[in-house]
Amino acid sequence: MSQSFAPRPLVIAPSILASDFSRLGEEVRAVDQAGADWLHLDVMDGHFVPNISYGPDVIKAMRPHTKKIFDAHLMISPCDPYLEAFAKAGCDHITVHAEAGPHLHRSLQAIRALGKKAGVSLNPGTPPSAIEYVLDLVDLVLVMSVNPGFGGQAFIRSALGKVSDVRAMTAGRPIDIEVDGGVAPDVAGQLAAAGANAFVAGSAVFKGGTVEAYKTNIAAIRNAAAQARGEAI
Ligand code: DX5
Ligand code: ZN
Repeated sequence: MSQSFAPRPLVIAPSILASDFSRLGEEVRAVDQAGADWLHLDVMDGHFVPNISYGPDVIKAMRPHTKKIFDAHLMISPCDPYLEAFAKAGCDHITVHAEAGPHLHRSLQAIRALGKKAGVSLNPGTPPSAIEYVLDLVDLVLVMSVNPGFGGQAFIRSALGKVSDVRAMTAGRPIDIEVDGGVAPDVAGQLAAAGANAFVAGSAVFKGGTVEAYKTNIAAIRNAAAQARGEAI
């Protein structure tokens, strides 16, 4: 199992949901410049989650402002009818929820067939066993550490144990383990120690409202995680 010792790269993925939507292009350029690795794009439909955000047209409008990875998190049900639109809008990763429909395996196949990386997300109440039989089709597991729908919520600590379980389940596979919700420097180290390598953060990145603040905020999360991974800062 030598592969299980090769850590996946450390990734900080600011969630655009916490940005100033009236200056979307500028905000995308700002987090790019501030050191974001991926841009996390939260898509909400007011049905699967109790909030509505934005869809493929808005993502398409953001696309020319950065070359960084677009990491789309679809909190929508059904998702299958919209996968192609998100692929065409420029998403590099498309993550669907395990709870979003009865045909998770088919959704993941469809994302791969569109040439995109396929992600699967678990709500706080969903056990890792829900994805046990689809791992061959998965490039990324997104562990929710809040109930999806809103930014700025408190981190749910049971996500730490879930990350360890997902890490054990995916050992030896080239799968990123990403955590989303209430992530700030204080928990980033614990999450990294548990086996997460990708960190979504909305409020913890966008507080301060300037490129300089974003830079400091991203570095704080990165440093906490890097230290826990035993990597040089
Ligand atoms: C919640 C979203 C998150 C959210 C994170 O449904 O999936 O990406 O924007 O925001 P913070 O970091 O503020 O909890
Ligand atoms: Zn998200």
